[in-house]
Amino acid sequence: MGRAIGIDLGTTFSAAAIVDEQQRARAIPNAEGMLTTPSVALWYEGAFVVGQPALELVQRAEGAEHDRLGASLIRGVKRMIGKPPQGGLFSNGHRTDPVEVSAAILAKLARDASTHLGFPVRAAVITVPAHFVDQERSATKAAAERAGLRVLQIINEPSAAALTYTHGQTAQAGTALVFDLGGGTFDATVLQLGEHEARVLATKGIEELGGINFTNSLASALRKRYEQETQSTYPNTTTASTLLVTAAERAKCELSEAQSTRVQLAPPQGKAVEITLTRQQFESQIDLLLFQLQIAVEQALERAKKSAGDIQRVLLCGGSSRIPAVQQMLTTFFGRKPEATLDLDLSVALGAAYQAATYREDPTTHTPGLQMIAEEGLVIDCVSYPVGIAVENTRGEDVKLIMLQPGDVLNTWSKPYPVLIRGTAATFPPIDVYSGEGTQLSARDYLGSITLALPPGTPSGARASVMMRQDQSGLVQVQITIAGRDLPGTLRRA
Ligand SMILES: Nc1ncnc2c1ncn2[C@@H]1O[C@H](COP(=O)(O)OP(=O)(O)OP(=O)(O)O)[C@@H](O)[C@H]1O
Ligand SMILES: [Mg+2]
Repeated sequence: MGRAIGIDLGTTFSAAAIVDEQQRARAIPNAEGMLTTPSVALWYEGAFVVGQPALELVQRAEGAEHDRLGASLIRGVKRMIGKPPQGGLFSNGHRTDPVEVSAAILAKLARDASTHLGFPVRAAVITVPAHFVDQERSATKAAAERAGLRVLQIINEPSAAALTYTHGQTAQAGTALVFDLGGGTFDATVLQLGEHEARVLATKGIEELGGINFTNSLASALRKRYEQETQSTYPNTTTASTLLVTAAERAKCELSEAQSTRVQLAPPQGKAVEITLTRQQFESQIDLLLFQLQIAVEQALERAKKSAGDIQRVLLCGGSSRIPAVQQMLTTFFGRKPEATLDLDLSVALGAAYQAATYREDPTTHTPGLQMIAEEGLVIDCVSYPVGIAVENTRGEDVKLIMLQPGDVLNTWSKPYPVLIRGTAATFPPIDVYSGEGTQLSARDYLGSITLALPPGTPSGARASVMMRQDQSGLVQVQITIAGRDLPGTLRRA
């Protein structure tokens, strides 16, 4: 029998975990013997090479080949999932897309896990940032399916971290805030923690705020310093840029431990220089980012109808929560130090594994693979992004009618919205569905449209109603009721 694993598909690092015989989640080492896998991919000799081996291919290459492979290495694909870049995505001459690249990363994680565990891994719970909307979730699911995995559920990263906390030795009940600052994304989630389960009260995320931003702002400071001290322009080549970002990344991590660090910059075709960077200089570079993080925390609390004083524990999660200035901001805001009880790099994958362990093969069905056994979910999560439909207001303008609000419980139908069937078409008049806040319709937030085959003979002028919910994975579902019959609608995704 195969068991399901949990996968944290991160912007910079990914990890897989499984619950062992002692009912404890354990991270699964990859083929390189590491518990985390760099989320990078390089098209090489007709296939994607993923993780450390891809980084080594670039490192080993020399001259123009090094530059070419370096430019072909795809990093941070999670920031593109569900919103493919215009003009396409290329690696080493191969035209690809974020789903294919994510599938390659997931395939390596599953393959390495299968080798380590000694049985084929075919099903997984996969984590995404809580603020991910339908497109990003469904694209992540599509990537996993393309990697040959059955997606049992998609769960929110901070919720997964909370599950690891509630399963930990020292777990205590109470109101908590999970502060999840990873490599590419940020979520603040307020939860009610129980003995072994967690209930999400509210969440607020920032789509593109993570370690990459801290590194980039340090890289631009380093570039300025280089130019001041050498009185020359920093070379504008791929290799020189990679060098700068790598140096900034290392300096950033060192400044979490030390008050100052020395950076040697010797780009090819450029002068060599040694720069001393202090923690204080780094902190002045990132104060705007810190402020944005604090605002998001305030908004999460506001959505949860809690104040800072109601939060009994602040749980750190994600590699970037190691930054002392981030912890200091939280200490000042909450009047107490945040807890570093969780493994910052693995707690999300471990939590996904706990959730995966609630799925069992159902002996009563003959369908192959795992079926969800009715065991209650360990985490009761909520809608994390608003969803609405396009309607005409009394002034004849198209606006959004929000049907699902952050904080609504997952798997619970919204209030029905009445619609009139016009004409005698066999299909339901398509209703456009949008995510995003406010009543404005924006092409960026367009999720797709609702389609439905009408029962034969439905007269023109018949009344119907539309309801919406987000399922356990946070994916939008629709239902249409006509003449007392509930019919599943389909969200035809854009
Ligand atoms: N000591 C440190 N000081 C500062 N930053 C650190 C430190 N160690 C790791 N990081 C940063 O943590 C980030 C990686 O964290 P993590 O693995 O949690 O992110 P991820 O899962 O890849 O991203 P996300 O969850 O946003 O998709 C990187 O940006 C890395 O630079
Ligand atoms: Mg992460």
